[in-house]
Amino acid sequence: MHLTKSEIEGLDKVKRLNMINSVTGIKPANLIGTASALLQTNLAIFSSVVHLGSNPALMGFIIRPVGEVPRHTYENILATGVYTINAIPQNMIEGAHRTSAKYDRSVSEFEECGFTEEYLEGFAAPFVQESPLKLGMKYVETIPIPINGTSLVIGAVEYLIVADEAVAENGYINLETLHLAGISGLNNYYSLEKIGEFPYARVKSK
Ligand SMILES: Cc1cc2nc3c(=O)[nH]c(=O)nc-3n(C[C@H](O)[C@H](O)[C@H](O)COP(=O)(O)O)c2cc1C
Repeated sequence: MHLTKSEIEGLDKVKRLNMINSVTGIKPANLIGTASALLQTNLAIFSSVVHLGSNPALMGFIIRPVGEVPRHTYENILATGVYTINAIPQNMIEGAHRTSAKYDRSVSEFEECGFTEEYLEGFAAPFVQESPLKLGMKYVETIPIPINGTSLVIGAVEYLIVADEAVAENGYINLETLHLAGISGLNNYYSLEKIGEFPYARVKSK
């Protein structure tokens, strides 16, 4: 297959969406947990979480255009200033996928999709008990992306929760031993296998 820009634009909508969503490779599989000001909890799957820097520790994710349909995750983040990012274990992908359905605001995807709320004292957003790698996040800012109406939502890491056994001496977290899932497109899930580790690359002096 060899497609030009106009051929891509001419593809059937769903085919184009699936294809363009898959080309960047395996994306992280995360559930973002939030609560409204009235303590109604919400959980939704996001594949666009990206690390923006480690000092300070910052993460971003892309939110679809706000306004067309209610975006409960984003509304709750603006209302409370906090959220959680929970890596999805392979044995929970079916329920995690279902959190993407447009549930009514009064329905909590935690209960509806088989996840358990877990709290840290003094932190208003719910964590996912079943997740082996979780972040407690404080909202920082939103960067609009005018070309398609999406936005980059930036947050600072307040808490990092992971089993000690999965963290190497040098700080690396082994995603394979945590049995985490990866995502391709919007509905294909993968397992993760570690296949290499190399020292910091430097240009060799002659
Ligand atoms: C695999 C997968 C990945 C997704 N990633 C994103 C994403 O990165 N950004 C986004 O805005 N929506 C994403 N969605 C869609 C949201 O999960 C969906 O809009 C959900 O209803 C949002 O819930 P909320 O309204 O409770 O926030 C994804 C859906 C699936 C199935």
